[in-house]
Amino acid sequence: MIMQLFDSHCHLDDEKFDLDRAEAIARMREAGVTRCTCVGSDLPSSRRCLDLAQQYDFIYAAAGVHPHEAKDAPADYLEQLKALLAQPKCVALGEIGLDYYYDFSPRDIQKQVFSEQLELAWQLDVPVILHIRDAHGDAYDMLRARADRLPQGVIHCCSASAELVREYIKMGFYVSFAGPITFKKAASVVSASQTVPLERLLIETDSPYLTPVPLRGQRNEPAYVRYVLEKQAEVHGVSAEELAQITTQNAMRLYRIPA
Ligand code: NI
Repeated sequence: MIMQLFDSHCHLDDEKFDLDRAEAIARMREAGVTRCTCVGSDLPSSRRCLDLAQQYDFIYAAAGVHPHEAKDAPADYLEQLKALLAQPKCVALGEIGLDYYYDFSPRDIQKQVFSEQLELAWQLDVPVILHIRDAHGDAYDMLRARADRLPQGVIHCCSASAELVREYIKMGFYVSFAGPITFKKAASVVSASQTVPLERLLIETDSPYLTPVPLRGQRNEPAYVRYVLEKQAEVHGVSAEELAQITTQNAMRLYRIPA
């Protein structure tokens, strides 16, 4: 069987691809990664993602303001996001969330920008891509507080405990894992992943970051999503072929991409 993989979260717009973007995209296709979603972290990067999506029919875009960039969001950022999300190839609002590990933006501003974008996603009925790092307590409270106005979405590069993952699943979210599941000290990520039903599981690279084993130390790229797939297949006790098909279908469903 020929595998078709979907890298549900990458940053092909990143400057680390400036010297060989077309080659990385070609390698992705050769590796059987037939689709990917290029995820924005601020308005300029969201625009670059959309440009790529308009250039390549198998690339999709997400537009959003990352918690790191929350403090620099212009006053009209919601209007600008709305315009980007009106484009057919822009399939999600993200990445958005809370990051208390780096605290690059003050926490009250992170929360405000996260909350406003959740509301926009709800109003526009588009899925969200959630980045939550060392902030699962506040993020979970914010999501639960708006349980009746909660957009669909995915917990990307999930670092939550198995217990919390179960709660996110109950809220209807998909859960995605990246390279860290292949790392040596991955026991907690592995046990969190095991609580995710297969129909809610996604795979991603988050490239150029989080390169999976055995390529750790190099720049990551979408072609390497198969290492995440293979590890997940092992964790869930299914074949890589089967999991490729399932995770691709899941990504298509989340991002509402017609088959
Ligand atoms: Ni990312």
